[in-house]
Amino acid sequence: MNFFKEKTSDELTRKVKEWWNKNPFTYLMDNQHIIPDWAFFRNIDRKIIKWMPWAQKGYPLLSSVIDYSKLKGKQVLDIGIGTGWTTEQFVRAGAHVTAIDLTPQAIELAKKRMEVNHLTGATIQIADAQALLFADNTFDYVLAFGTLMHMPNTEKAVSEIYRVLKPGGRAAAMMYYKHSLHWWYYIFLGKGVMRGKLFTMTPQELSNRYTDGAYEEGNQLTKFYSKGEIRRLFSKFRSCQIHIYDATTPIDHFPHRWLPLGKLLPERLKYWLTTQIGQTLWIDVEK
Ligand SMILES: C[S@@+](CC[C@H](N)C(=O)[O-])C[C@H]1O[C@@H](n2cnc3c(N)ncnc32)[C@H](O)[C@@H]1O
Repeated sequence: MNFFKEKTSDELTRKVKEWWNKNPFTYLMDNQHIIPDWAFFRNIDRKIIKWMPWAQKGYPLLSSVIDYSKLKGKQVLDIGIGTGWTTEQFVRAGAHVTAIDLTPQAIELAKKRMEVNHLTGATIQIADAQALLFADNTFDYVLAFGTLMHMPNTEKAVSEIYRVLKPGGRAAAMMYYKHSLHWWYYIFLGKGVMRGKLFTMTPQELSNRYTDGAYEEGNQLTKFYSKGEIRRLFSKFRSCQIHIYDATTPIDHFPHRWLPLGKLLPERLKYWLTTQIGQTLWIDVEK
């Protein structure tokens, strides 16, 4: 049984859009009183560096998983950009960037990020990843960071990525890993079983409630995937590499953040565990 399957629906996409427009993803505690100045965007970057040590040691963000040296002068599509931090890295790397998000709020914030950094050249526009308006074989590289798991028709979005990529082009995505400490222990067992939430909520509702937007009562849709499901999703692509990543924090805080016995484990073991039961899937594919 797949807990995370939801019916494909325009209605759900509308709800997803409405929710993210009201709650833009800033990695900060307060999403409601945003002053989008230079410091606001740098603050987001600092959180990303701190919370995703597997992705980079500093700028450019995601440099441990994206080879920016290959993207100079290339056509890049950045999907589900939120406040535009990935878009900024691509622009600085000299790529020709088209950046999309479902919500006007994200588009406004991403444009503001470019403006306060005096960056030009990116085309930033509202679009639905499930129905891209770009021609076939347009892009050399596509990134979908933390977004494919929030849309009802992820299968369609992945086939759209395939369609708009040039032959030999690459795409990468960040999605959530189902067989992770985060899903099974902290959410399913911690919230669902120990707190009895499974009496009133489905596993899918638990996932929506206790992942992104947990401080805002949860978002409309967050799906977790197994490696097998990812392989099937990206099966059209010539190659598909999947890595599991995380910070060591969820392991440090095991069994509970008030009893963080996980901190006693050797660093190398903790690091290895992040590659087995971490929350983050990094998917790298080639058309
Ligand atoms: C968790 S946020 C991630 C934002 C950004 N990638 C980041 O890491 O900060 C998810 C983003 O995906 C966008 N999104 C959701 N469904 C989408 C769709 N069908 N097409 C394009 N963007 C979508 C949301 O509006 C939101 O900005």
